[in-house]
Amino acid sequence: MEFNSEVKKATNSIYKKISDIMPEIEWSTHAPYIYEINKLKKEKNAVILAHNYQTPEIYHGISDFSADSLALAVEAAKTKADIIVMCGVHFMAETAKLMSPDKKVLLPDMRAGCSLSSSITGEDVRNLKKRYPGVPVVSYVNTSADVKAETDVCCTSANAVKIVNSLSVNKVIFLPDDYLAKYVATQTDVEIISWKGTCEVHEQFNDQEINEIRKNNPGIKVIAHPECPPDVINASDFTGSTSGMIKYVKENQPEKVMMVTECSMSDNVQVDNPKVKFIKPCNLCPHMKRITLPKILDCLKNETNEILMSKETINKARKSVERMTEIGR
Ligand code: 13P
Ligand code: SF4
Repeated sequence: MEFNSEVKKATNSIYKKISDIMPEIEWSTHAPYIYEINKLKKEKNAVILAHNYQTPEIYHGISDFSADSLALAVEAAKTKADIIVMCGVHFMAETAKLMSPDKKVLLPDMRAGCSLSSSITGEDVRNLKKRYPGVPVVSYVNTSADVKAETDVCCTSANAVKIVNSLSVNKVIFLPDDYLAKYVATQTDVEIISWKGTCEVHEQFNDQEINEIRKNNPGIKVIAHPECPPDVINASDFTGSTSGMIKYVKENQPEKVMMVTECSMSDNVQVDNPKVKFIKPCNLCPHMKRITLPKILDCLKNETNEILMSKETINKARKSVERMTEIGR
């Protein structure tokens, strides 16, 4: 693939937008893929949904819609496209399939997993339900369809507290993220029974690191994802989902900010907030980073890596996601 004058002309407006965060030499390797993918997605009536942790060339270059996991699920249900390419991880592609079972949903790399999702199985949930009979199960959307099939209602980091409170009960099983469960417990009177799952990216942060950054950057705003450990959340100025964090930056325009989350997000958000200085932590999600432009082009061209599930699983698991989207953000 060549970075020729046709590619350069067709992609120039995208490069102008991200040129502050990407050297031209790097752009010249991405642009031919961006050009091909954007052409092909029109020909095939495909939509590209991207999570906020995708790299800037995906987020700004080819995605039709980029967002947090709640908005991606809602968008997947609404789309008129024939094909959905999920630039994110496996549970996000499965959730898109649950919301749009008649669409072809493709994931550019089937190995893009998630440490939270792989921490629990459907059988684990059945055992928990036996242990706590009658207690409703709230599952984070970062779970497999098998777990969702055993779940009363899903949640994301954007609506976990609202979902727990909406059940009007005094106890819930909340899984699999132990840190998110601890955060929710600080925001509600409902008793939370949690699971020992953690996000391998967010669990690496600690409050010493934040205190050090504050010392070296007086006035900085520190905003954290609720998958972080409690000491990190306590040391932060704001806690929210990935889109909640983006909204915070957009509305508050802090002079300096540190987003305590996956590192591509700071690059993506910086593009749309040029006056804000970002102090960038660098914890990469190895699963999100499996998604690359060459893999996206290949899977769209050959329509490979399709998410397939039995009708029974789809029907059982979909209810818990639909219940969540009805309650909303
Ligand atoms: P959001 O729902 O906030 O986008 O988070 C998803 C995720 O995987 C964070 O690690
Ligand atoms: Fe899963 Fe953590 Fe990666 Fe999000 S950042 S996809 S929770 S491993």
